[in-house]
Amino acid sequence: MRVKVRVPATSANLGPGFDSLGMALDLYNYVEMETTTGGLALEVVGEGAGEIPRDESNLVFLMTKKVFQEAGQAVPGLAIRLTNGIPLARGLGSSAAAIVGGLVAANELAGRPLGRDALLTLALQEEGHADNITAALTGGVTAACIVHGAIRFLPIPVANSFTVVVVIPDYHLSTRVARSVLPDSIAFSDAVHNIGRVALLVAALTTGRWQIMDVATQDRLHQPFRQHVLPGMAAAFDAAQEAGAKGAVLSGSGPTILAFAQEAPERVLLEMRAAYAREGIATQGRICRLSPTGAEIIA
Ligand code: HSE
Repeated sequence: MRVKVRVPATSANLGPGFDSLGMALDLYNYVEMETTTGGLALEVVGEGAGEIPRDESNLVFLMTKKVFQEAGQAVPGLAIRLTNGIPLARGLGSSAAAIVGGLVAANELAGRPLGRDALLTLALQEEGHADNITAALTGGVTAACIVHGAIRFLPIPVANSFTVVVVIPDYHLSTRVARSVLPDSIAFSDAVHNIGRVALLVAALTTGRWQIMDVATQDRLHQPFRQHVLPGMAAAFDAAQEAGAKGAVLSGSGPTILAFAQEAPERVLLEMRAAYAREGIATQGRICRLSPTGAEIIA
């Protein structure tokens, strides 16, 4: 028995939608899994090869084990091959992709004992927040909340396909550190600020009214605090705006930054990368599109 799953990169928050909004991008990891006569053989190709553990502490394997345990089945011998396009620990949902990819592949090998909601609950127990995993499983743009330990979510229908400028600085920031700099409470006025923006953002996405995106992507809940541990972020935001982007946001907990630029995305990308370069920070750049599909069994 073998299966191959494709799972997209994801960007969480989209500015004001902290821990709620998620978006799948057309940058993918692949999980190939085959049952064998015994033990675990795990290979990693692409992003994270040489860094990602290849023993039983591997996140894809841990999620696989969970599925079989949950289904009351013995974990079979497995050959797992991970082909990763998503950079690690950069705010593009690499851990969500490993979690969701492992769950979906294992669920298929186990004869689909678990439904979508059960898979999401297992993913949530590992990831702790709902935004990346929901978008990684279902694709598109999603709004998700945690209610009594389970995820309630809806897809946000998007009026027009759009391009996203993705700038990935050459340093890591763990989500744990990026969350440790957040305050325990915020002012009522800042909460009101974000509620207005997130409402506008959802309306802009569903109607395709991009002219409001510069306001709709503003945030006071997490980005202002994280900026202090993310060198180059402020300058890249300014560069995006000056180059004509309609809003720039931190992707998840960073350090990657996304800019919404319908026109001249190449110029926006160039200017943002130049801003990092002026601060001595190397970057990778990409122009992505939304991935309408989430984790998919492709073979
Ligand atoms: N919503 C999470 C955060 C995403 O911003 O901490 C982490 O990838």
